[in-house]
Amino acid sequence: MTEEVEYQRFKDTLRARFNRYTIKAYHTLPVLDRPFILDIGCGSGVPALELARLSNGQILGLDIDQSALDRFTKCIEEAGLSDRVKTMRRSMVDMDFADESFDVIWAEGSIAAIGFIRGLKEWRRFLKPGGFLAVHDEEGNLEEKLAQITDCGYELLDHFVLDSEIWWTEMYAPLEKHINDIRAQSGSTGVLPEAAEDQRFIEIFKKNPRRYSSVFCIIKKV
Ligand SMILES: C[S@@+](CC[C@H](N)C(=O)[O-])C[C@H]1O[C@@H](n2cnc3c(N)ncnc32)[C@H](O)[C@@H]1O
Repeated sequence: MTEEVEYQRFKDTLRARFNRYTIKAYHTLPVLDRPFILDIGCGSGVPALELARLSNGQILGLDIDQSALDRFTKCIEEAGLSDRVKTMRRSMVDMDFADESFDVIWAEGSIAAIGFIRGLKEWRRFLKPGGFLAVHDEEGNLEEKLAQITDCGYELLDHFVLDSEIWWTEMYAPLEKHINDIRAQSGSTGVLPEAAEDQRFIEIFKKNPRRYSSVFCIIKKV
């Protein structure tokens, strides 16, 4: 395994610590029999694989990042889920699914790519009547976001906040330690570009941690 793959795998193990929130959000939904779930901006598929374990449904993970999708595909195969979990390389702005295709749309950490309100508006038509949308986004402008949910033809079923302490303890503190360990082992050769970029983000996070709390909104199409 290359250092880069090893590093990404480590990040995925940290990401998996947040699966408890994916589980909490999914359990807000009524019991769904074989739902068709679209995961927009699925990345390497950590939440999507959890959705496959939680449901007996079909999961379609969509992302623009081919290397993340390749890692996801490997995990799908390793988990023996190839019959229920598929991937698609496509931008969320170029989705051409038929109207009312999905029972559930899931989007963790991705709606910011087009903006909360644009995502709500553009994705609505892909949901079946009474379908569900789960969005995990930055907590900023929460009151405004909650109002937009109703304005865009949805009902908010529930929402909960993951505060910056959770992000620090579960993600960024162990990631920083891991990067420092790599740095200590590699000596003067430095760290991977991705790790260096993560370290820069961690420094920004430390300066203003409250900016980095997040919110899960569980929404129903009405
Ligand atoms: C913060 S990551 C979240 C990945 C995954 N949902 C998770 O929670 O682990 C955001 C993902 O959105 C994807 N993304 C960004 N812009 C996109 C676009 N226009 N269309 C599809 N995916 C996009 C990125 O490639 C990245 O994988």
